[in-house]
Amino acid sequence: MTSVTSLFAPVEADLELLTDNLKNLVGARHKILYAAAEHLFGAGGKRIRPAIVLLLARAIHPGEDITSRHRRLAEITEMIHTASLVHDDVVDESATRRGVSTVHSQFGNRVAILAGDFLFAQSSWYLANLDNLEVVKLLSRVIMDLAEGEIRQGLKYFDTTLSIEDYLDKSYYKTATLIANSAKAVGVLSNASESLSEDFYQFGRSLGLAYQVVDDILDFTGSTEVLGKPAGSDLRSGNLTAPVLYAIEEVPYLKTLIEREFSEPEDFEQAIELVHNSNGISRARDLATHHANYAVQRLSSLPSSPSRQALEDISEYVLRRLK
Ligand code: IPE
Ligand code: IPE
Ligand code: MG
Ligand code: MG
Repeated sequence: MTSVTSLFAPVEADLELLTDNLKNLVGARHKILYAAAEHLFGAGGKRIRPAIVLLLARAIHPGEDITSRHRRLAEITEMIHTASLVHDDVVDESATRRGVSTVHSQFGNRVAILAGDFLFAQSSWYLANLDNLEVVKLLSRVIMDLAEGEIRQGLKYFDTTLSIEDYLDKSYYKTATLIANSAKAVGVLSNASESLSEDFYQFGRSLGLAYQVVDDILDFTGSTEVLGKPAGSDLRSGNLTAPVLYAIEEVPYLKTLIEREFSEPEDFEQAIELVHNSNGISRARDLATHHANYAVQRLSSLPSSPSRQALEDISEYVLRRLK
């Protein structure tokens, strides 16, 4: 796996500053929150979302410095993402995240929910202080969408009537909306034309969808060590993702196994094997490739620069995670 950091070279210094700022922003208001923030912002997330914000900001006007509002937008984006992970780990009952134990497994569910709420609330506060109503609308919508994504997913566990369109819709709400809307907000803060801001939105949307599809494939193909969580945990919990949905079309018996929630011995192992023996994973890979390629196309009106190149490389990196 290529290291992500080398892809972020044009904004490496920006990202270092961001990591320090995030820890300070969440601040010393309360011991447990401070511990949670240290824990989360200190522990190697890939920071792909703030990197995209910073790279887009630099790519609009190559050679110029970015503004403090661009930096704040990048911080808000990572804060919203991190808040959603704290809540997601409660919902998914995940024990580890970013290579360390999750907030809920350290401090309990109650604290994790409150800490997630606090991070969302705090991101809203910093958002409002950007004093740009359009950006406030874009990012507050995201917070709504993230909750909707988790709810949509939660209502469809073990539901084999789920279509690939439903799955992509849900993935938009869960993952793509944040990348899409924070990308668009860069355009707004830079006074870019509507059409460039729309390009940024579409870039983020497609990249976000590719990112989620790849993450879902890795749940089947990755090792427990690399994933930092047990492989196959999506399917086990009834979260039906692209590889399974395609596999069901080929192997209807998979439906039976899923509908009885793997209640017979060997059901789950057999289901995993059926997915691996079908074209589900390779079709999901094609789906991710399609979206990643489309994302790159939407960058074509930017002038050439190291930042634009890095954005193209990130789109490629998303797919390379599969190799
Ligand atoms: C995890 O996001 C959730 C998904 C959308 C797959 P990341 O894989 O970007 O998580 P961090 O920020 O690097 O920990
Ligand atoms: C992560 O979703 C949470 C959001 C995108 C809001 P997942 O549950 O699919 O991702 P991991 O596998 O926990 O990182
Ligand atoms: Mg989840
Ligand atoms: Mg999860």
